Amino acid sequence: MPVLAIDAGTTGVTALVVGSDGGVLARGYREFAQLFPRPGWVEHEPEDIWTATLAACREALGRTDRTPSCVGITDQRETAVVWDRRTGRAPRPAIVWQDRRTTGICDRLRAAGHEPRIAELTGLRLDPYFTGTKFCWLAAEEPRLWDGVRDGSLALGTVDSYLVHRLTGGAAHVTDPSNASRTLLYDLAAGDWSDELCELFQVPRSALPDLVPSSGVVGTTDPDAFLGLALPIAGIAGDQQAALFGQACFTPGTSKCTYGTGSFVLTNTGTTPVRSQAGLLTTVAWDVGDGLVYALEGSIFVTGAAVQWLRDGLGLIDSAAEIEGLARTVPDSGDLVFVPALTGMGAPHWDPHARGTIVGITRGTTRAHLARATLEAIAFEVRDVVDVMVSEAGLAVPELSADGGASANDLLLQLQADQLGVPVRRPRVTETTALGAAFLAGLGTGVWAGQDELAATWALDRRFEPEDGRRDDGRHDRWREALDRARQWTS
Ligand code: G3P
Repeated sequence: MPVLAIDAGTTGVTALVVGSDGGVLARGYREFAQLFPRPGWVEHEPEDIWTATLAACREALGRTDRTPSCVGITDQRETAVVWDRRTGRAPRPAIVWQDRRTTGICDRLRAAGHEPRIAELTGLRLDPYFTGTKFCWLAAEEPRLWDGVRDGSLALGTVDSYLVHRLTGGAAHVTDPSNASRTLLYDLAAGDWSDELCELFQVPRSALPDLVPSSGVVGTTDPDAFLGLALPIAGIAGDQQAALFGQACFTPGTSKCTYGTGSFVLTNTGTTPVRSQAGLLTTVAWDVGDGLVYALEGSIFVTGAAVQWLRDGLGLIDSAAEIEGLARTVPDSGDLVFVPALTGMGAPHWDPHARGTIVGITRGTTRAHLARATLEAIAFEVRDVVDVMVSEAGLAVPELSADGGASANDLLLQLQADQLGVPVRRPRVTETTALGAAFLAGLGTGVWAGQDELAATWALDRRFEPEDGRRDDGRHDRWREALDRARQWTS
């Protein structure tokens, strides 16, 4: 029986109808508006996300005569959503994971000495990236709205919870541990919301969703709300953890990198939460009913978004897909290095004050050099994160599975293999985020019997071997110099 997967990403919503062989039967997609009300602020209208979800699902379902048996949901993580429990309407836009407005709150909490305890409980760090300080900002800046949160008329959550509310016509307010573990409010060891952290971030625990496993039925779609369909919702996971699942990285030590708006490298560490002092995050991968599985994560904020910036900000290319052809017109980027810290820097540097920097421009620099430098930057950023996984956590990364939109770019994956010095392999289905959500839902309803059956659906498209069989260190040294110049730019 096919499964419907909803992937509510940062720039748009993808819906896939996935067959029991793991193949994609039909697809739908809708972009929604990105709002930038002030420098450093990024918002989404929850209603736009919901409308895009309906349109993407309608499109996918209209392209196949097979009716899905269940629904899986995966989402952009950390984004803070507030909505009315009765109507499902949001009184204000969602504050997106990329939003930097809480940099000052993070600085103050750090100065007050809270970071070590927060890191101990959550596996995360004090950075505007995560949901907790976004709620904190709302409590301080929008007190009337926060009264509604306190009196129970408004609900809090991430995009997964909001979508479950809308899909079920308000019947369920739930989230899974992979999403919860990104909020700064979740105790990683206890596997539950933390009263201590809720108090620190001024979040009433009663406003948060109930925790449910990542796989298993949590509610049924309301036909009046959702395209006339009553389907069990049986899978929920944050998009990066869903991609790890969709890549069948079920055994400890297996790794994937998803090249999307940002790029996110995750390594499965099994039932052990591996801690990092060097800029990686400890996070929940999933709970498929037999306890928490953890991952070590390197979150890079801007990779595909840098290509979008070349397209929308500079008008250098007409479509993101053009970048490969343009970059191939030059043998290298010359002396040009682009540090795409457009929303600060995530792993492993964590500098919300960093900004995008281009160094090495000469009279001979062309748009082709900038295109190539952008692809190189993505490969450098991913290398930096993988290097920390290997050196600090002692994890072996003998190969990397790539997925996401930009994994279609052969030049990028070749540059990546050259930087890592290990093979990069691309599966036939690169929309592994949605695939992972489908797997979780299908596993929860008996479409698939277990992880072995899911792993058997993984099929190789192409493997990229490092040229000369070793790492390309020369250009990486220039990258490190340019990184220093991008850091601590804004106050
Ligand atoms: O943590 C942010 C991440 O979940 C966003 O992923 O694919 O929407 O850029 P993506």
